[in-house]
Amino acid sequence: MWKEASPRTIYLKDYQPVPWVIRTVDLDFRLHEKGTRVISRLTLERNPAFTGQAAELRLDGEGLKPVWLRLDGSELHGDAYGIDDQGLVLFNPPEQFVLESEVELAPEKNTTLQGLYRSGSMFCTQCEAEGFRHITWYLDRPDVMARFKVRLEADRDKYPVLLSNGNPLERGELPDNRHYAEWEDPHPKPSYLFALVAGKLKYIEDSFETASGRPVRLRIYVEPENIDKCDHAMQSLIRSMRWDEEKYGREYDLDVFNIVAVNDFNMGAMENKGLNIFNSKYVLARPDTATDDDYLGIEAVIAHEYFHNWTGNRITCRDWFQLSLKEGFTVYRDQEFSSDMGARGIKRIDDVRMLRAHQFAEDDSPMAHPVRPASYMEINNFYTVTVYEKGAEVVRMQANLLGPELFRKATDIYFDRFDGQAVTTDDFVRCMEDASGRDLTQFRHWYDYAGTPELTVQGEYHPDEQVYRLQVRQSVPDTPGQKNKPPFHIPLVVGLLDSHGRDMPLDRSDGSARPELLEVMEKEQTFEFRNLPEAPVPSLLRGFSAPVKLNYPYSDAELVFLMAHDSDGFNRWDAGQELAQRVLLKLVEQAPEGADMLAEFTHAFHRALDAAHSDPALLSEVLSLPSESLLGERMEVVDVEGIHAAREQVKAHIGKRLHDDLLSHYRDLGEEGEYQVTPETIGRRRLKNLLLTYLTASGSREAVDLCVQQYQAGHNMTDVIHALTLVADGDHPARQELLDDFAARWHADPLVMDKWFSVQARSSRKDTLERVMALQEHPAFSITNPNKVRALIGSFAMGNPFCFHSADGKGYTFLVDKVLQLDGINPQIAARLLRSMARWRHYDKARRELARGQLERVAGQNGISRDVYEVASKSLQ
Ligand code: ARG
Ligand code: ZN
Repeated sequence: MWKEASPRTIYLKDYQPVPWVIRTVDLDFRLHEKGTRVISRLTLERNPAFTGQAAELRLDGEGLKPVWLRLDGSELHGDAYGIDDQGLVLFNPPEQFVLESEVELAPEKNTTLQGLYRSGSMFCTQCEAEGFRHITWYLDRPDVMARFKVRLEADRDKYPVLLSNGNPLERGELPDNRHYAEWEDPHPKPSYLFALVAGKLKYIEDSFETASGRPVRLRIYVEPENIDKCDHAMQSLIRSMRWDEEKYGREYDLDVFNIVAVNDFNMGAMENKGLNIFNSKYVLARPDTATDDDYLGIEAVIAHEYFHNWTGNRITCRDWFQLSLKEGFTVYRDQEFSSDMGARGIKRIDDVRMLRAHQFAEDDSPMAHPVRPASYMEINNFYTVTVYEKGAEVVRMQANLLGPELFRKATDIYFDRFDGQAVTTDDFVRCMEDASGRDLTQFRHWYDYAGTPELTVQGEYHPDEQVYRLQVRQSVPDTPGQKNKPPFHIPLVVGLLDSHGRDMPLDRSDGSARPELLEVMEKEQTFEFRNLPEAPVPSLLRGFSAPVKLNYPYSDAELVFLMAHDSDGFNRWDAGQELAQRVLLKLVEQAPEGADMLAEFTHAFHRALDAAHSDPALLSEVLSLPSESLLGERMEVVDVEGIHAAREQVKAHIGKRLHDDLLSHYRDLGEEGEYQVTPETIGRRRLKNLLLTYLTASGSREAVDLCVQQYQAGHNMTDVIHALTLVADGDHPARQELLDDFAARWHADPLVMDKWFSVQARSSRKDTLERVMALQEHPAFSITNPNKVRALIGSFAMGNPFCFHSADGKGYTFLVDKVLQLDGINPQIAARLLRSMARWRHYDKARRELARGQLERVAGQNGISRDVYEVASKSLQ
């Protein structure tokens, strides 16, 4: 907890190598319900890369109860070292030495879920970013890579499974009904990749043979009641291993690969070497308990953590400012994997939808920061959509600039050059440069400057010359601490459509070999296309070729034209979204032309719905309305009630006007046969459930009965939870009955109950906040479990803008009450929740005052954590 006036800021520019490095680590864990001991033996030596003067060595360590300390075999004298709340200082250690220590820990009291802690009846760890310092004295920074050997011992009956990183060595029995196991990881690694698990677990097993013939034993460990929910995760793992060999030439490098699912976890999952630990949400799935999105999420996160074995573990980050080196690249890799496994076009739309909704919002908030931040107070606050998702976009742009062959050449260079090292995003970009011979100096701005660039484009056709000129202007908004930014290097992929909607051949006056790719590098730049017999309609930013906002003065008619004809699927969808936004924003304004626009829009909707042979998945994307938050981002001052009302109005209008047509399509898409997770079946379910949403909005009796029927049919969780969501959002007489039925059926399954909490927290009913407060007393809720907090409080604050931002400010007060309560339990989760207030300046004066008051209440609190303090103080800046 933070005790001084304000926490220290850490700067990238202050990076220094360590004076000593650790070569080997031997750890011995004596796990007990009380009084757990950790004995450590480190071999240290002077770091050849360190050139400064240093007589003392500081090892990180927090909350450790020292038992003894030895240097080269002898007990350390009191004047040779000092211990404070940050760690251990050795005043004058030799060039090379062995440091041994024993500390006592209390994992049973650890509610922060960092370091060693208990989840249910097991012991587990989370060490990224700085959890290892809560386990033993160490140089807890990613550029110290050492070889680990681990021995763990525990009660034989309560903890039959004992796991750590690397390959298993021996195991054996001990007196007092205890046993032990030893593990050795041959690959040097930073401490944040250390892990152990001890528990009463079951596993499923499979095997994989690597391209060069190494057999790997694969296991997924879960609590016994979940053993029938692991198959999808295992299949996803096997596919990931194959894909990384085929696409990147990367093989697995140990004899075993273990995954453990735990219920108490701060994030999604963790790539510990050879022992991935997962939030159970990203492992467990059965058709009746998990939705299509859960299945897709599992596939993506399993792949993400597996891919980290090369992009993160073999090559890691020099310091935490470089976090996107591993996260941005690994997200890019998992996105591409999911695209190859499923529906590429849909995946891209979903990723961009998420980027625009969350990352653009973050970039336009007081929490905005570059992909490579220049400073932080608490690194856990920087596991953000900017570092992850914008970071992935920055890698994607480089991949697209280079093209597939050169990009593969560049990644080969990267793996070859830096294997076994801790490096920087700059090192990564240099591989791109070396492979392609290109200069990416200007491109690096993407890493160093925050804010979403804006492109303003204008087109001019000159019939006499048969030439079309696109004038492109770019600007990057000011963000905290960064003003007047230089122009970026922005890949803008374009097409030109003729009056029939066909792509015209592109012939650039500068003779460019890739005429569709405009490399925007100046503040203002003109690109010229020649030999065009007629005026084109431009299709801009195809495939979302850069994470920017685009302004082009399209007429509504041109958007309808692009929606119908653009050969780029992403832009077809995007044109529809732009049109929908225009209609919705007009309705929010209550502008007179709103009604006509709505009629037009409904017409276009109808045509799209009835178009023969359309792919249900894409259709469901096209027919989905932009979210309330996305609409809010388009307004100077967010009109909370107006946006909600406009969306409801449009849904109801479409539901009524197209009722029978929607109904017959809904019936055609009905579920038959066994549940399958394929792009086709997922697409059909998505569309069917979207149609049900519109039907329900019409208020027809029939529609509401359909929801109840779909719920009761219980074919799969996707359909069940969607039906329940629709019923729970209204005043249907069956509402309470269905909610009770669901809880009665699933009360013992925590992940399914998360859905039940979330459905109620997202409801737009007037009594939602009251319900959320009451649900905290429900036996299935627990304030110490992050999934529960996210499901109930997180869903309310981040997934229900209408209720959270209610004009009376009660949503804000509730949230801050929870943040302050959680701060004493789990500061990481508390800080995450508080981020839902960061955009408070975008609201009207009354709400601003209420929000500011609540943020000040947090910032003024004594003894607040560094995590929460950083979010509160930056939000107020
Ligand atoms: N490296 C993990 C992943 O992206 C995330 C772990 C972050 N945990 C944390 N407490 N900051 O897969
Ligand atoms: Zn990651």
